[in-house]
Amino acid sequence: MLRVCQTIFSVILVLGVGARAFSQQLASDAIEHRIDTLLQQMTVSEKVGQLVQYTGNSPQTLEQVLQGKVGSLFNVVGAGDVNAAQKIAVEKSRLKIPLIFGLDVIHGYRTVFPVPIASAGSFDPELIEQAERVAAKEATAAGIKWTFAPMVDITRDPRWGRMVEGAGEDPYLGSVVAAARVRGFQGRDLADPQSVIACTKHYVAYGAVEGGRDYNTVDISEQLLREVYLPPFHAAVKAGSAALMSAFEDLNGVPATVNRHTLTDILRHDWGFNGFVVSDYGAVDELLQHGVAKDEAEAALKALTAGVEMDMADGAYAKQLGPLVESGKLPMSVLDEAVRRVLRVKFRAGLFGNPYTDPQREHTDILTTESLLVARKLAQESIVLVKNRGLLPLDKNTKTIAVIGPLADDKADQLGSWVAQGSAADAVAPLEGIKAKVPGAEILYAKGVDLDSVEGSRVFGTGAPVAAPAPSTATGVLNVGAPTGPPSINDAVHAAQKADVVILFLGELAGMTGEASSRASLDLPSKQEQLLEAIVATGKPVVLVLESGRPLDIRWANAHLSVILQAWYLGVQAGNAIADILFGDASPSARMPISWPRSVGQIPIYYNHKNTGRPTSPDRWHTGYLDESKEPLFPFGYGLTYTTFQYSNLRVETAAIAPTGTLHVTAEVQNTGQRAGTEVVQFYVHDRVAPTSRPVRELKGFSRVTLAPGEHKRP
Ligand code: BGC
Repeated sequence: MLRVCQTIFSVILVLGVGARAFSQQLASDAIEHRIDTLLQQMTVSEKVGQLVQYTGNSPQTLEQVLQGKVGSLFNVVGAGDVNAAQKIAVEKSRLKIPLIFGLDVIHGYRTVFPVPIASAGSFDPELIEQAERVAAKEATAAGIKWTFAPMVDITRDPRWGRMVEGAGEDPYLGSVVAAARVRGFQGRDLADPQSVIACTKHYVAYGAVEGGRDYNTVDISEQLLREVYLPPFHAAVKAGSAALMSAFEDLNGVPATVNRHTLTDILRHDWGFNGFVVSDYGAVDELLQHGVAKDEAEAALKALTAGVEMDMADGAYAKQLGPLVESGKLPMSVLDEAVRRVLRVKFRAGLFGNPYTDPQREHTDILTTESLLVARKLAQESIVLVKNRGLLPLDKNTKTIAVIGPLADDKADQLGSWVAQGSAADAVAPLEGIKAKVPGAEILYAKGVDLDSVEGSRVFGTGAPVAAPAPSTATGVLNVGAPTGPPSINDAVHAAQKADVVILFLGELAGMTGEASSRASLDLPSKQEQLLEAIVATGKPVVLVLESGRPLDIRWANAHLSVILQAWYLGVQAGNAIADILFGDASPSARMPISWPRSVGQIPIYYNHKNTGRPTSPDRWHTGYLDESKEPLFPFGYGLTYTTFQYSNLRVETAAIAPTGTLHVTAEVQNTGQRAGTEVVQFYVHDRVAPTSRPVRELKGFSRVTLAPGEHKRP
């Protein structure tokens, strides 16, 4: 009986799947038909217009919208402004084609989540997806239907400031996270008013720029491109990413903006991508600087024919494509195909049927209690416990706590770079979070040193200007030194001497990371190293909490401290999440999404390197350095918890090896400590003999397993 029921159920299921595929096909046929009809009505100028994207909503830009010469606007935010511009497109322009409104919603819109490098370390794709769902809900409430995210660039170079925007060094983790972010942004249906179009960027290999210098040159093998840099993009495309952004850099002699091999051969032909590609900001005009186009017309022609359908910001397509069609240099079929791709996404996103944003949503959908809970959980899960010789979790009855450092009472920098509409006022600073966690304790605060901003460093976002943090006036918080005089190391030392424990917040300002924020040194900026050494010299127990968008050179700290946490930039709930972890209300579970170098000279350093012909030797004749270990300070995948785990009973089910090659490997994990905790079980492979040399280890799977003391599981 059970069998019969199962069979009937399976038949219904198959029919159900078949019916869904059939109705999807009908819908997509209908879209193609509507595009055909539109294309027949469009002038060349209107066709070109669909491929043009401008920033802002100046009167001149809106005039272009009226004339059907714009396909998308970005950095126009808020239902009021968006609806006003949309009205011109859909009610006043000749063909009434809606605009798509874009914005860099990189790690949250107003509810700012941990920076992407941090959340990748959670190894928790479900929670990341949930966070991007929140970001999509908030962004769409403000009229944004397209986010320039996820950024899925793999990088092995922490000098590159944009490491902070991606998921780190590993193609497998990067792919899982890329797909999760796309699913979160786009939801089940792109036409859902709470879904945004994802724009996976920067296609491709931008993270491999020479010397970590932003916008620089990349020259890598096809094998490296395919095995390391392409996989997260492929995963995003498979997850349905409706748009991609091409990268700025020169890739193997052919800038990514005109790289037909990656844009057309791989993306369109091999992967069957049917969305569209937008250039990065001004990148079409930059082809002149690259030296691959003699003028703007040639740049536009090369970019479009290589497979970049939309031109961001520089107006090159707007000026050049019309004359190129007229002169016969640009075939109408190429123009039509590009327009078709843009219109297809607009139809799929429901913009023709539902072009406007309900202005009420701005009051109900942004910065909600539920969103803040997701932000706090993801922030807790993004903190890596790097070292803990017994001091953590701290006792909530500790009498006097010194909270020291330039980032301790700083709200703005908790948010990280690219904060969309994030506001410093929404952020919980660490000092505030600690104070709320232990209201009975005496808290002594001292800034210690100022963090001078790196010249020209910026925090991107269109939100309200981020004000300098107000000095803390909360009851029970004693400001030592501030605000009466400039911060001094002496004041910080005095605070430490009076305390039972010191919590020291050091790192980089958020503006020292991100675009055009490469650094040649990984040192703690400003006088922080002196502050650190002076505080350690007091002999008090010290907890170091690092906030940064990249690994820093912390060899001294690692040698002299017993507790270190890497907190990255954790977003609006930073202070609360840090306090949750410090005082044991949450257990650390994040892992390093990158290999943490000892010093800048080790870069590039990554776990999935090749063995070489001389990995070791009893003497000096092997790969490495005379003056430094070749091992990272902390490896990829590393991170501690407040408990211990043991692995046993590894089972390799060889019976499952079929010609298709599936091998099942399982192991038992047991919590052998006194507290509940989460282990990130990681599965690596190594191909010992192959036609080409293979990495020493490659991550192929992982799973978060939460276990009570004594509990065991086979995940
Ligand atoms: C960045 C992109 C970003 C674009 C639009 C560029 O400078 O490289 O990541 O999406 O600006 O703001």
